[in-house]
Amino acid sequence: PSRPYEFIEASEPKPGVAQITLSRPKALNALSTPLITELNDALLAFDKSPNTSAIILTGSQKAFAAGADIKEMSTLTFSEAYTTSFIESWSSLTTLIKKPIIAAVSGHALGGGCELALMCDILYCTSSANFGQPEIKLGTIPGAGGSQRLTRAIGKARAMDLILTGKSFSGTQAGEWGVAAKVFGSYEDLMEGALGTAETIAGYSKVAVMGAKEVVNKSQDLGIRDGVEYERRVFHGIFGSEDQKIGMKAFAEKKKAEWTHK
Ligand code: HXC
Repeated sequence: PSRPYEFIEASEPKPGVAQITLSRPKALNALSTPLITELNDALLAFDKSPNTSAIILTGSQKAFAAGADIKEMSTLTFSEAYTTSFIESWSSLTTLIKKPIIAAVSGHALGGGCELALMCDILYCTSSANFGQPEIKLGTIPGAGGSQRLTRAIGKARAMDLILTGKSFSGTQAGEWGVAAKVFGSYEDLMEGALGTAETIAGYSKVAVMGAKEVVNKSQDLGIRDGVEYERRVFHGIFGSEDQKIGMKAFAEKKKAEWTHK
């Protein structure tokens, strides 16, 4: 995307890799509606772009995002929230984007920031990252899937403990609980790690990558029997791709596969 954004930065740090950096430093990347609109816009543009295979979503060293914008919410009425489907557009990340999104989390990932990170396909963080659902302290509750995704990720006992007390948990803890796939000792290592993984993914066939993302995410919605059936349908479908033939032929010939992404 070439248009200038106000609250995010969009870049392409490596071939096949896009990066969206939340950039509203004065408010610790609080996720206002205009910021989310820009985020969705950039995500959709990268998802459509033939040059993009994987997307990194990150913030600053200090904050991935400190939550939904409390100042914006403070005067919102029920009627306004209901009739404008407040927060619903955040779900675009999980429903419309077919390419994998890697969250690289450093610093605060609180409330909506934690929820946004949990919506991504892979979550990497620093050991000192600060995750939590502190909504209870504001007299409210998680509203962007936190009660559902965090509970699925860490179990009811821990999620209830965190959501009812509003206390936060560290990046180290996120790694131990399996919320984060990898935990890094420094911000630089985090960004290098995210970029390395994005490049690895970008080195594969887009058809297989998008299929893999789709079926793993289905596991969060479907029971095991329907999930395995769903996976098999997509697996069968991929026999129709050129790249599946290219990949298997290359293996047999001990050559590197040259993907067509078809
Ligand atoms: C609006 C925010 C904000 C937020 C920080 N700021 N978080 N503005 N919405 N969520 C602003 C502050 O008002 C301040 O602006 C500036 O960012 C710097 O923040 P400080 O508090 O001065 O920084 P610090 O002392 O370092 O403390 C960092 C912090 C704290 C611990 C992260 O800012 C904090 O507790 N923030 C709120 C976290 C939170 O409750 N998140 C959940 C929101 S509810 P000024 O103008 O004073 O300099 C939510 C609902 C989700 O997310 C449901 C739907 C998605």
